Amino acid sequence: MYLVEGTLKIKYKEIIMIPDTSAYPITTCGIYITRKCNLSCKHCSVRKPDVPCNEMRLSDWQRAFRILKSRGIEKVSILGGEATVYEGLRDLVRYNSESVGLDLAVVSNSMSDDEIYINLVKAGLTRFSSSIDVVAGDSFDSCSAAKSRRAWEVLKLMKEVGVPHLTGYCVLRPENADQIERILGLLSAQGIWMYILPFHASVGDHWQTRGRNLPKAFEDEDKSMLEDFCSRMIALKEGGALLSNTVEYLQFLPEFAINLDWHCAPVISELRIDADGVLMSCNDIKGEHLSRYTVFSLEDDDNITKILEARAKDSANCSGCYWPSHYHAEQLRYRQSGEHWIWQND
Ligand SMILES: C[S@@+](CC[C@H](N)C(=O)[O-])C[C@H]1O[C@@H](n2cnc3c(N)ncnc32)[C@H](O)[C@@H]1O
Ligand code: SF4
Repeated sequence: MYLVEGTLKIKYKEIIMIPDTSAYPITTCGIYITRKCNLSCKHCSVRKPDVPCNEMRLSDWQRAFRILKSRGIEKVSILGGEATVYEGLRDLVRYNSESVGLDLAVVSNSMSDDEIYINLVKAGLTRFSSSIDVVAGDSFDSCSAAKSRRAWEVLKLMKEVGVPHLTGYCVLRPENADQIERILGLLSAQGIWMYILPFHASVGDHWQTRGRNLPKAFEDEDKSMLEDFCSRMIALKEGGALLSNTVEYLQFLPEFAINLDWHCAPVISELRIDADGVLMSCNDIKGEHLSRYTVFSLEDDDNITKILEARAKDSANCSGCYWPSHYHAEQLRYRQSGEHWIWQND
């Protein structure tokens, strides 16, 4: 997506900085297709059972997909909530494979019937992810343990019906850090990738999708444990284990996963769209400024600079995160542009 035109002036942490805004294509997008879910994992606050949300209908998402495609988006992850409880999911997947051609992934908690997953494949789904946090007991909570157990069955099923790209999403907490190596080994042996998500929670009230007011997962004294963990993960990855987090991301994880204080660049690295079609600043923040725009605003060229400015203002207001999707999306953009992010003091 060639959203960046000219130079944006952004007040960032009391310093006026000018990001180098030569064209950095945005090629990835995550959508919260629903905020409803059939589980209630303790660590998750994406699920919003009681908050009214004007969920977009199938026809809205079909139009949204056409817009994303026309703006240069290549990969879309359908997230939730639980995507498989969204009624139009199969039709949306089919519409995409027949008429749009985005590289689509669905992330699920595996708790739906086999038939639902098979129908997604019949509709053309080629990327599928299941959450697997633990192999041993209820180290998190009963929901997390249940979806982790069921994930093995669903991933096996998806493999049997020929889905080429399968991934296990694994939330990293102190309680399961010693199980992840085993999960990675088991997944890799079956040709399934693993994607590590450090647990995101912290005290605060401006996040829409973070375990708000839950204690954070890691303390400063966990740093050496995290360093050991990441060194092992990097060695396993370099030895051929199917771990999709980049080495660079893992190298910095002990530094940022404790206080969740990594800051993304102020221009958007991946798009994120809420269930009602509103553009989000990132996984966590709907954003005071960006939430004035929806995916349909992207149709109008005149909105692009305004959207970028709105997102930059929202990101300047954030205490940070260490979500891998954002980190990786920035890495991808650097690679595509062949440049590094450049800050210049005014
Ligand atoms: C929000 S869920 C949506 C997909 C589906 N319902 C599932 O659980 O797989 C996507 C992933 O985010 C993870 N997740 C949820 N809350 C999180 C948090 N506070 N920190 C890190 N990961 C989280 C989930 O465990 C899951 O792997
Ligand atoms: S992590 Fe997934 S399964 Fe668990 S409550 Fe959140 S959306 Fe539902």
